[in-house]
Amino acid sequence: MEVPLKLPSPIQAFDIPVFNERGIQFLVKREDLIHPSISGNKWRKLKYNLKKAKNLGKKTLVTFGGAYSNHLYASAAAGQAFGFHTIGLVRGEASEILNPTLEFATSCGMEIRYLSRSAYREKEKALMQESLNGPEYYLLPEGGTNALALPGCAEMATEIKSQLERLPDYICLCCGTGGTMAGLIAGLDGQSQVLGFSVLKGDFHRPLIQDLLVEYQKKNTDFSIPSNWTIDGNHHVGGYARFNSELIEFINRYQSQFQLPLDPVYTAKMFLGLEKMAEENYFQAGSTILAIHTGGLQGVAGFNQRFGDLILEAV
Ligand SMILES: Cc1ncc(COP(=O)(O)O)c(C=O)c1O
Repeated sequence: MEVPLKLPSPIQAFDIPVFNERGIQFLVKREDLIHPSISGNKWRKLKYNLKKAKNLGKKTLVTFGGAYSNHLYASAAAGQAFGFHTIGLVRGEASEILNPTLEFATSCGMEIRYLSRSAYREKEKALMQESLNGPEYYLLPEGGTNALALPGCAEMATEIKSQLERLPDYICLCCGTGGTMAGLIAGLDGQSQVLGFSVLKGDFHRPLIQDLLVEYQKKNTDFSIPSNWTIDGNHHVGGYARFNSELIEFINRYQSQFQLPLDPVYTAKMFLGLEKMAEENYFQAGSTILAIHTGGLQGVAGFNQRFGDLILEAV
């Protein structure tokens, strides 16, 4: 089945005062525009997993996520688009009214099963208990990060190289499980400086990404793990899915001033972090920053439902 995907995802230049005033060129790779519902890093991570599942003749994709998960949403859409049944194991209690993420997932045919928080922590056991460990099932891990996610994410680098005459000095993205960043690092193969913004509290990304790159190296023996990457841990705004009024105002300003929609859990934290770092003169005059917009915009509807329409809808 042909699924229309906007690839390569466009790279757009933005005139944003904090960068302009410092002679910094600011570019955004709009991965959010790849597909209305399989967007951002989700397409990149799913691509080779979907191919493998098809090649193995699997009929059902099984995956995990929180009730507002971008990954569940995209997996449900991808399952529908590429002809798989999907089962989502969701952390937490069932609620009478589905939130917009789960409502969409259900509308794509995803079968939702709820797991208590303790059952969710032991995912392997949960699969056995739910009888989802048979040969017909293809398992996508939480967040979609596994060895096959990396070559898909590495393709962002291939695209960037073909789209720009000169590689940017900095290529930036946000980090949850680290899979997207590991793939980007692999694809860039030592070029540019990769700057990952952690959206979670805690200093655990470096070893996680290092391990993913070691796994990648086993399959790509001429690849040597580069050192051109750093993780920023100062802009998570209190931890995963935490927010404050500064972040909300920032999202609404980017929407109204630059028509660039951001989500509160991932991308807004990176864009806000980039502005703050530019104000502190972290980036040299004359440098180019490419920020990767990894999507996640589906989460805005659920966020607004919970917290009272704080974020302006994209027009
Ligand atoms: C919109 C968005 N951006 C970035 C990330 C971070 O990706 P990763 O988990 O590969 O670090 C995620 C989570 O997968 C996400 O949903």
